[in-house]
Amino acid sequence: MDWGMKNRLSQLMPGGKCFFMPIDHGYFQGPTRKLERPGETIKPLLPYADAIFVTRGVLRSAIDPITSKPIVLRVSGCTSMVGKDLANEELTTSIAEIIRLNASAVGLSIFVGSEYEKETLKNLATLVNMCEDYGIPVMAVTAVGRELDQREARYLKLCCRIAAELGARVVKTYWCEEHFEQVVNGCPVPVIMAGGPKCETELEVLEFVHDGIQKGAVGINLGRNVWQSAHPVSMAKALRAIVHDNVSVKQAHEILKQTKEDNPKAKA
Ligand code: 5RP
Repeated sequence: MDWGMKNRLSQLMPGGKCFFMPIDHGYFQGPTRKLERPGETIKPLLPYADAIFVTRGVLRSAIDPITSKPIVLRVSGCTSMVGKDLANEELTTSIAEIIRLNASAVGLSIFVGSEYEKETLKNLATLVNMCEDYGIPVMAVTAVGRELDQREARYLKLCCRIAAELGARVVKTYWCEEHFEQVVNGCPVPVIMAGGPKCETELEVLEFVHDGIQKGAVGINLGRNVWQSAHPVSMAKALRAIVHDNVSVKQAHEILKQTKEDNPKAKA
């Protein structure tokens, strides 16, 4: 691996582990709850995240360029919640723009099994070809569109392996209750867990993240379960401890409770 690629990956994953904070939801969902003003949402959370996952539009409008936080640039899109098919994504951003914005990595979604499987996989291959020349890692996002029931190992391991075969340096996928280790073990590049819609309880989030890390995931890319929480900073601290300090669910829950007590006035 070339120096530039290695350097970017180690900035993104200090000690081989990572906590990415996604605020890219607007690219197909519009102003998601608690992300109406992404700059304000992310500010108190930045110290706990290793990188921000964001589109160029929100990066330019909401993130101060003096930041030293690595940027993972979302470079696929052109579909919406109300459109015909979420899977019909295109590459949105040129390599010149990716370099101009000083992205440490780029991310795009693939929709395996959808009507647009081939197009989105071709997007991935094209992006890898563009970015490898400049040592910029590509993170493939194995998207499930509205079919959240596709979050099972048999499907996820297929998606992750295909993404890695096409040259993704990192793959982001969903955690699943059964056989998640097969998803990780079948993928020759690091696997990062996505969050999905907000869980009913905070404990549920800590439990699934802990389980996924134990089964070999290198980290998380968790948005709504952090910034839609009543206590986003406490959640971020507890999750960071699971990812980077290898704490148990019980210890992470203690961190969550303790930091909530330190900041009891947080609004739901
Ligand atoms: C959507 C994405 C988002 O970055 C990610 O899924 C959002 O995180 P969360 O689901 O935890 O809110 O890639 O495809």
